[in-house]
Amino acid sequence: MDDINTITDRLSADRDASDDELKILIDAEKSDRLRELAARRRMEYYGLDVYTRGLIEFTNYCKNNCLYCGIRAGNSDQKRYRLSKDDILACCREGYELGFRTFVLQGGEDLYYTDSMICGIVSSIKSGYPDCAVTLSLGEKERESYQSFFDAGADRYLLRHETADEEHYGKLHPESMSLKNRKRCLFDLKEIGYQVGSGFMVGSPYQTLDNLVSDLRFLQELMPDMIGIGPFIPHENTPFGGFERGSLKRTLNLISILRLMFPYALIPATTALGTIHPLGREMGIKAGANVVMPNLSPVGVRKLYSLYDDKICTGEEAAECRGCLERRVQTAGYRLTVDIGNVKRGL
Ligand code: 5AD
Ligand code: FES
Repeated sequence: MDDINTITDRLSADRDASDDELKILIDAEKSDRLRELAARRRMEYYGLDVYTRGLIEFTNYCKNNCLYCGIRAGNSDQKRYRLSKDDILACCREGYELGFRTFVLQGGEDLYYTDSMICGIVSSIKSGYPDCAVTLSLGEKERESYQSFFDAGADRYLLRHETADEEHYGKLHPESMSLKNRKRCLFDLKEIGYQVGSGFMVGSPYQTLDNLVSDLRFLQELMPDMIGIGPFIPHENTPFGGFERGSLKRTLNLISILRLMFPYALIPATTALGTIHPLGREMGIKAGANVVMPNLSPVGVRKLYSLYDDKICTGEEAAECRGCLERRVQTAGYRLTVDIGNVKRGL
């Protein structure tokens, strides 16, 4: 087998590598060359720009019971909240003034919000802010629902596949959920015309290197516009409360690998990455990420959107994540842009 640098050079040139080569890169201890080539590739496509998205976590009710997630229905210790349409529009107003041109509405799978309510929220945002993109992240729905949100003006949809291996999927989710339906959703979203984001957790319980290779292979099939990955972090009131966190190094290696395999992609430096290391997001940007998603939710509810323990940006200090992230992006040597931030497929 060739050495790490040779494999890295080949991944960069071919935008692909064999399964065994990918496994070596995912686990590489010395990944200087991987970082360097990923940064160079990102420069070719996006320059120094880092796009920003205002994240509005509008409900922490969820009907599902994913074993890793703190807002799972089975977590009866979790205090629940919902934002009204007016609350959400107030977040957008504030966000617009702060320079956000994309709003991401994210929530648990909460049937309180009917399709027509979601459509009403989306169309109000689009008519109030026609120069902005609306991204939805509401989980698995029927194709007709996705279509109606799209018709109401939604531009993008985020739905991580979480793991592309059937057996592993079964270990992370209750029997009521399936990888098959997850994939159905993702392909429906793409066909409808959304810009689609997918992704997975790094270091989720029982994950193997082969599973991660399957994740990369699935992404090659889906070719999403956005790819979000972050380390698994245990939440104490879940069945996975006793598992280890995912590794920082492995997450950064995967960000760089993704940048080389999918040069055009929008890849966020995630909150989970910032949670496992104080400079995690800066490191993510240097490794090839080009998006940050500061929290725009009202400070009073932020602590309640607790997917995992110790989540950052939930205290009073986080009232203004945008300023904080702007400084962080600058420190990393990049610049935060006020731009709708569409994908650049064309190079
Ligand atoms: N640790 C890290 N990420 C998590 N997510 C959910 N629970 C956790 C956890 N315990 C991620 C999932 C989901 C996204 C919104 O948050 O990948 O898709
Ligand atoms: Fe939220 Fe720094 S980004 S407090």
